[in-house]
Amino acid sequence: MAMIFAKPSMRTRVSFESGFSLLGGHAIYLGPDDIQMGKREETRDVARVLSCYNDIIMARVFAHQDILDLAKHASVPVVNGLTDYNHPCQIMADVLTIIEHIGQLEGTKVIYVGDGNNIVHSWLLMASVIPFHFVCACPKGFEPDEKTVEKARQAGISKIEITNDPKEAVRGADVVYSDVWASMGQKEEAAHRRKVFQGFQVDGNLMKLAGSKAHFMHCLPAERGVEVTDEVIEAPNSIVFPQAENRMHAQNAIMLHLLGN
Ligand code: CP
Ligand code: NVA
Repeated sequence: MAMIFAKPSMRTRVSFESGFSLLGGHAIYLGPDDIQMGKREETRDVARVLSCYNDIIMARVFAHQDILDLAKHASVPVVNGLTDYNHPCQIMADVLTIIEHIGQLEGTKVIYVGDGNNIVHSWLLMASVIPFHFVCACPKGFEPDEKTVEKARQAGISKIEITNDPKEAVRGADVVYSDVWASMGQKEEAAHRRKVFQGFQVDGNLMKLAGSKAHFMHCLPAERGVEVTDEVIEAPNSIVFPQAENRMHAQNAIMLHLLGN
């Protein structure tokens, strides 16, 4: 497997690399300075050349179009390891974690608090397939992509709500989910976002409002004391580490599926 990383990573890199070796494969890490896709060489050429040496390609890129171009021109399966638009492997692992800790995703209430980002888009796409109640509570102006919200609503499978009121949103949650306020590629906006996102920190009070059945989830890495407090990550109802572990198991299943086993 060729693993293309235009951005940093711990979980995605190590879970794919360790996971693929557990399956008997070998993974090659290609960091931001290695192939410089789109700069040193066109994406369509990278796709065709890597397809000659590998059975599968995994890529973490900035522009979503890059993963679409890779998939279009590669002759082997291409797995999305995060783009600016979405992060499907993360949400597959999250659903596995919910199944393990709550029993099933169907019928649960998943409340995301924070930026309407790539994680939210993958939750919305999941909500187009499996019926559950998904709420995104984000500051005004930081809502998820409208077309993706519309697509999830049009699917008519799940209840979808987008709100600017985290306190109201979390009541009765099965899962309160958080992510960084400034994603990779937006770090220069971090200071501004910290001001705008006041009131969207998941802290002990917000978890109390959520109620006793609420689990806390976060895709990690977390900025403790920013979008979530230490207390919440370390609480017994926090399932962030089993969630991180499940990246590997969920992705192994995806790779076995793609490689025909
Ligand atoms: N959750 C996640 O994708 O983590 P990394 O950025 O460390 O891969
Ligand atoms: N939204 C975050 C997720 C990191 C796993 C980012 O894109 O940086």
